[in-house]
Amino acid sequence: MRTLTEIHPASKPQGAAGESVAHDSARLHVSGSARYVDDIIEPQGTLFAAVIGSRIAKGRIRHLDLQAVRRAPGVIDVLTLDDVPGHTDIGPVFPGDPVLTRDAIRYAGQPIALVAASSEKAARQAALLAEIDYEIQAPQLDAEVALAQQQLLRPSHRMQLGDCAKALQASPIQLQAKMHIGGQEHLYLEGQVSLAIPGEDGDMLIYTSSQHPSEVQKLVAEVLNLSFHQVTVDMRRMGGGFGGKETQAAPWACLAALMAAKTGRPVKLRLPRKDDMQMTGKRHPFVNRYHLGCDHEGRILAADIEVIGNGGHSPDLTDAIVDRAMFHADNAYFLPNADIRGHRVATDTVSHTAFRGFGGPQGMLIIERAMDDIARHLGCDPLDIRKRNLYAEARDLTPYHQQVEFDTLQRLIDELESSSHYRARRTAISHWNQLNTVLKRGLALTPVKFGISFTLQHLNQAGALLHIYTDGSLQLNHGGTEMGQGLHTKVAQVVARTLGVDLSQIRITATRTDKVPNTSPTAASSGADLNGKAAEQAALTLRQRLSDFLAEQQGIAASEIRFSDNQVCWGTSQSMPFAELVQQAYVARISLSATGYYRTPKIWYDRETAQGRPFFYFATGAAVSEVLVDTLTGEYRLLQADILHDVGHSLNPAIDIGQIEGGFIQGMGWLTTEELVWNPDGQLLSHSPATYKIPAISDTPPVFNVKLFDHANTEDTIYHSKAVGEPPLMLAISVWSALRDAISSLSDYRISPDLDTPATPERVLMAVEALRQKLNGDRR
Ligand code: MTE
Ligand code: MOS
Repeated sequence: MRTLTEIHPASKPQGAAGESVAHDSARLHVSGSARYVDDIIEPQGTLFAAVIGSRIAKGRIRHLDLQAVRRAPGVIDVLTLDDVPGHTDIGPVFPGDPVLTRDAIRYAGQPIALVAASSEKAARQAALLAEIDYEIQAPQLDAEVALAQQQLLRPSHRMQLGDCAKALQASPIQLQAKMHIGGQEHLYLEGQVSLAIPGEDGDMLIYTSSQHPSEVQKLVAEVLNLSFHQVTVDMRRMGGGFGGKETQAAPWACLAALMAAKTGRPVKLRLPRKDDMQMTGKRHPFVNRYHLGCDHEGRILAADIEVIGNGGHSPDLTDAIVDRAMFHADNAYFLPNADIRGHRVATDTVSHTAFRGFGGPQGMLIIERAMDDIARHLGCDPLDIRKRNLYAEARDLTPYHQQVEFDTLQRLIDELESSSHYRARRTAISHWNQLNTVLKRGLALTPVKFGISFTLQHLNQAGALLHIYTDGSLQLNHGGTEMGQGLHTKVAQVVARTLGVDLSQIRITATRTDKVPNTSPTAASSGADLNGKAAEQAALTLRQRLSDFLAEQQGIAASEIRFSDNQVCWGTSQSMPFAELVQQAYVARISLSATGYYRTPKIWYDRETAQGRPFFYFATGAAVSEVLVDTLTGEYRLLQADILHDVGHSLNPAIDIGQIEGGFIQGMGWLTTEELVWNPDGQLLSHSPATYKIPAISDTPPVFNVKLFDHANTEDTIYHSKAVGEPPLMLAISVWSALRDAISSLSDYRISPDLDTPATPERVLMAVEALRQKLNGDRR
């Protein structure tokens, strides 16, 4: 950790892009004074709402009796589908998400009605009094059965390179495997919450915890039958989103707004944790298969890969998520002949949604599994197989025909291999495993190559709004939302650097739809890339205006003027404080407010031919994990993790390292302890932190080395940085691979064990048992 004086060096300007400054709200976060939606002091007369959700997963409502709810103490009003004046379907991309249902039930917890009362407790207690008569059907929860029955949310998609079938047949070695990959609960610290405040003449103001304020604005307007300009959404910060508030913050905002419009009073809806876990979608569970052909060196010649994404009851973002899984089924490896098919199946659960990586992690896992499997088959170190298959010169075309233009991943892996002492540790571990019969160590190095850009092209745009006030202080708004990732800090640092002023001069306020319109969700890790560029544009516009003004005043060329150290300098030694120039410009009637706009260049994808350049660039990294497994109980620990990750020229190394550490640990949780359990009736049993285990601080490896690979992004991104939000999550695949390595040691590394995820201790133990049985069978 760096000291405060290092973080705030005396040289000026302080905190410009590239410096490790603390998150702009760090002090507020740790002192409990950062304001979240539930901390806003409610206006007088605010009502509190609670959702009446379905107790069954599939069937119909035969009869709905809300008499007792209406009569319950403190209840002011009850809202059903009949009370919705506008659209009743709030599907974000495709229809399929009714805001409330009065008939068909498609998942446990599906909202049926909303009750508003004078207190939160009264509302929640009243909600329990609903009498609902259901016609119950058996839910269908199995993704493979759904595929066999062609229960598809969207058509399947296919990407092809070369002639896979032919190359597979001609391959000297062929391998096949199938695996189940679990979903993941977001478990953001702050749950879903919205406060809707009716204004005059039908207007509506929404405070919400959402990654996508513009979509909340749109959907609220549509359910209320208003024009978008009548709805304003204000979003200061989220206590975590992780993708879970990209589309799925909107239903609760819509319900609060509907009740607010109906009653004419402000309405707050905050889901209790259990409802939040039961009523909102998760990371998509997947079932993936591969059929590979390779040569005797383990080089892949043909890869036939099938991924099945379980989308739950509605499309939500499933189409793009399964696409991203397919776009990452190669991870960092060249598949000269590839046939990749992706299915989006419907099951009777909540609608699964965005989660850090957005399908990418699920796609990558199958090819990383293949690397280990090839290595065991050939008796090689998996790292050598990985290195042999990496994208390289003349081996650089992805299955979607984008050329991989980087040459850094090979170097990055070499650097990590040596800095983590991979080879020496490999030798030591093999030796140690021979001496220890119960405890086994495992080691793995896995890379990440993650495509940066929304694959839905039009989302790759952003806007910003920048005001300079006459004291020289600035107020900045942009389309991105802050969810803890430090986006606001980074974007403000860009403006500080562009105008040469201290970061403390720049204030970022809430993301609001009335300040920057028509924004994209803060997602796909693109927040800083898009909004940083937009904010830079706004700052450049203002800098130009100020330069032109000063140039004319001083009779010099505008190009001679420099903005740095809170000063404006020209000539050999002349300067003026930034604030003074601003004051003079104001008096001379120069506009001190500007917008900025950015759209990502170079990207396209033709879905018909499944070819294109969907990604502006790739973010890359690699991790080495070492685990210790108790083969009698299946319990394990992560002993050490070494990470080298490429963020280009970092906008803020401290924040980037925080993102890498957090992403890695969150990914480790997904692959190890976080297990979603639905019973056969379709009820989620793992609906509280007591039954759903996320990593604790004690699960952090005692040795945790995280380094940035300092290498400018070759694309023209903001200060040649790279996106960091999601890619590090996939570094945790090394933990899972290390667990398989430890288990494999029981067979002297000849057998590659099946290990579905999450690899809970229970699953690890079963994998150990299965491997032992196989060994005994071999002997007999
Ligand atoms: N970091 C924190 N602390 N909290 C979050 O909710 N979300 C992740 C990542 N890092 C998240 C986070 C996800 S899913 C994404 S897409 C990116 O941040 C979004 O922000 P960015 O585009 O500014 O990186
Ligand atoms: Mo992140 S899953 O793109 O919100």
